[in-house]
Amino acid sequence: NAPDTPREFIAAIDQGTTSSRCIVFDRDGRIVAVDQKEHRQIFPRPGWVEHDATEIWRNVQEVTAGALAKSGITSDEVKAIGITNQRETTLLWEKATGRPVHNALVWQDTRTDQLCRELGRDTGQERFRRATGLPLASYFSGPKVRWLLDNVPGLRERAERGEILFGTMDSWVIWNLTGGPDGGQHVTDVTNASRTMLMNLHTMEWDREILAAMDVPAAVLPRIGSSAEIYGTAADGPLAGTPVASALGDQQAALFGQTCYAVGEGKSTYGTGTFLLMNTGEQPVSSYHGLLTTVGYRIGGQRPVYALEGAIAVTGALVQWMRDQMGLISTAAEIETLALSVEDNGGAYFVPAFSGLFAPYWRSDARGVIAGLTRYVTKAHLARAVLEATAWQTREIVDAMRKDSGTGLTALKVDGGMTANNLLMQNIADFLDVPVVRPMVSETTCLGAAYAAGLATGFWAGTEELRANWRRAAEWTPRMDPALRDREYRQWLKAVQRTMGWLD
Ligand code: G3P
Repeated sequence: NAPDTPREFIAAIDQGTTSSRCIVFDRDGRIVAVDQKEHRQIFPRPGWVEHDATEIWRNVQEVTAGALAKSGITSDEVKAIGITNQRETTLLWEKATGRPVHNALVWQDTRTDQLCRELGRDTGQERFRRATGLPLASYFSGPKVRWLLDNVPGLRERAERGEILFGTMDSWVIWNLTGGPDGGQHVTDVTNASRTMLMNLHTMEWDREILAAMDVPAAVLPRIGSSAEIYGTAADGPLAGTPVASALGDQQAALFGQTCYAVGEGKSTYGTGTFLLMNTGEQPVSSYHGLLTTVGYRIGGQRPVYALEGAIAVTGALVQWMRDQMGLISTAAEIETLALSVEDNGGAYFVPAFSGLFAPYWRSDARGVIAGLTRYVTKAHLARAVLEATAWQTREIVDAMRKDSGTGLTALKVDGGMTANNLLMQNIADFLDVPVVRPMVSETTCLGAAYAAGLATGFWAGTEELRANWRRAAEWTPRMDPALRDREYRQWLKAVQRTMGWLD
C-alpha cells in the first residue's frame, strides 16, 4: 500500500483436518501474517476418527486473534473474513447452548461402511450418483448424520423437535462467529453442501428423496448459500463487526486460490489427503472412472461452476503416521532426508488404505498394506515407498481424469504443505510425465477463501484481477525412463489389489 492509500486486508480462517489457521492477506494476495494451532486427533477404535469441536472453535478464536496481533494491523483494517474448512466432517450440536452432542465424525472415519452397504444393497454404490455426483461411501456426511441420530440416545427425537443443528465445519465456525445461540447464522455454502450426499447437484437444494432414504430430518439442516456472500458479521472477538463473506470447502478454495477459473484448469493439493480438482464449467460432468462430480464454487447469484475431483484419503497423514505412530522419523521433513539416503524403494510398495480406498476405487473394505518386503528393505526404502504412494495415487487420479474428460494434463499446479518436499514433487513429475508447478503463495486454500470474501465485499473487482496475482515459484520437469515408470506402475497397481476385501 502506498502511504496515502488506506491499508485494507482480508482475513481467512482455514479449519483443517489437523489444524486451524488464520492468514491475513493484502490486496496483492500476499501473506501479511499467519497463526496456526493443531487439534487432537481422536481414534476411539480402528477406522474411527473424531475431533472435539469445542477445542476446534477455541483454536479458531485463538488463531484469529493471533494472526491479527502478529500482523500489526487494526481490526477495522480487515474488510472481510473468509472461511474454508475440512469437508464432510460432521457435527450435530444443540441450538440453545451450542454444545456438541458428540465429537465430530471426521471425513476419514469409516464407521458408516456397513450403513453405506445397506443403503446400496438393492441399488448398488451408485444409488445417489445422478443426484449428488458421489458414490455411496463412508467419506460423505449424510451417512455420518444418520449414524449419530441412530446412536446417540434420544437424539433423533430432539432433532425432529428442531433442537439440534447439523453442520460441516464451515457451518460450525460461521454459526459461532456470528453469535452462536444468540442469533448465529446457520448456513453452509454449495461446495460444502455438495459433499454431504444430501444436496442435489442440479437444483442446489437439499434432496427430499435422499433425506427420506437416509432418514435425516430437514429440521437439522442449514440454509445453502453461495460461496461468496455476506452471511453475517462477527459478533464479538477481535474482528467484531467484520462481515463473514465467504465459505468454501478447502479443496474448492484451493481451486479458487490457484485461479482455476477456466474449463480444464486444475490443481492438486497435498495435505492430510490429496485432492485434485479440475474446473468443468457451468455443467456438471458425470464420472465413469471413479471421480466425484462436485461444486467448484458459486460467486453470489452467478451460475455455479462445477468440478471433477479425484480424492485420495491418505498422503500427508501417512507421513504423520510414520512420525507419530511408528516413530521412524521425528519431524515430517525428515521423511525426505531419509528417502534420499537410498537410490530406490528396494522393492517395497506402501498402499495407505487406512480409511479404505477413495478415488478411483471407492472401497471402504480396503486396508493398508506394505508389499514386496524382503530382509533387504530398510526404513529408508519405506520412506521412499511412502512418498511414492502419494505420487502413484496422483497418477491414478490423472489417468481417471483423462478418461472422463477426454483430455490429458499439460502441467499440474500444486499446493499444500507437502509441496515443500522436493523429492515428492520430482516423483510426481516423473510418474505423471508432465511438469509440476507451484505458485509463489502456496497457501492457496486460505487465499481462495480470502479471494471469495474479497469479491463478495467489492474489495476485488473480479477474477481477472486475481489471476494477475498468480506467480510461478518452482517447477519440476519429468526425467524418468519410461520403461522403468511402466514397470513400477504395474507393481504399484498389484500392491493396490492386495488391499481390497480386507474387511468382510
Ligand atoms: O475432503 C477432505 C478434505 O477437505 C480435507 O482436507 O487439507 O484438511 O486434509 P485437509
